[in-house]
Amino acid sequence: MAMTVLYGTETGNCKGLANKVAAKGEKNGVKVEVQNLAEYTTAQLAELKGAVLIIISTWDDGLPPPKAKPFCDELATADIDLSAIDYTVLALGDTEYPLYCECGKQIDARLAELGAKPFLERADLGSDFLVSYIGWSKRFWKTLAGYFGVGKSA
Ligand SMILES: Cc1cc2nc3c(=O)[nH]c(=O)nc-3n(C[C@H](O)[C@H](O)[C@H](O)COP(=O)(O)O)c2cc1C
Repeated sequence: MAMTVLYGTETGNCKGLANKVAAKGEKNGVKVEVQNLAEYTTAQLAELKGAVLIIISTWDDGLPPPKAKPFCDELATADIDLSAIDYTVLALGDTEYPLYCECGKQIDARLAELGAKPFLERADLGSDFLVSYIGWSKRFWKTLAGYFGVGKSA
């Protein structure tokens, strides 16, 4: 069992959560490959198969984290088929901003447009993300256990 976690971050919060997912995966017998969207292309995304989790924050009035912006800009116009991907998005943001978790929302919509299938509804986490992550993680691993066809939840 294997899955890919792609994160886009500016100050490390999404990276921290990606590493938590990887650590939990190791415990659950799921091999998790973690990649930074700052060094990732849509051509690489198009080669993925199976379960993919995208963890991304929003910056500067609804924009992607600056380092992940080239990837997001490329994704907006990419002509790629993502029908081999089953995905979910974990969006980080802050409810103080009018465009709350906008980048995660846009990625979610764009992946679906390109044929990827959601296996779990997107979750938007605010400034209390370290707390709300705990409930999300339970839902995520329970859903993935079903996805991989094993009776294990975490
Ligand atoms: C200058 C600045 C702009 C931000 N803009 C937004 C925004 O437009 N929408 C939103 O939901 N969150 C916004 N945030 C909140 C970040 O998305 C949030 O702090 C997130 O946890 C950062 O995650 P990261 O460290 O992985 O980049 C902003 C934060 C800062 C400091």
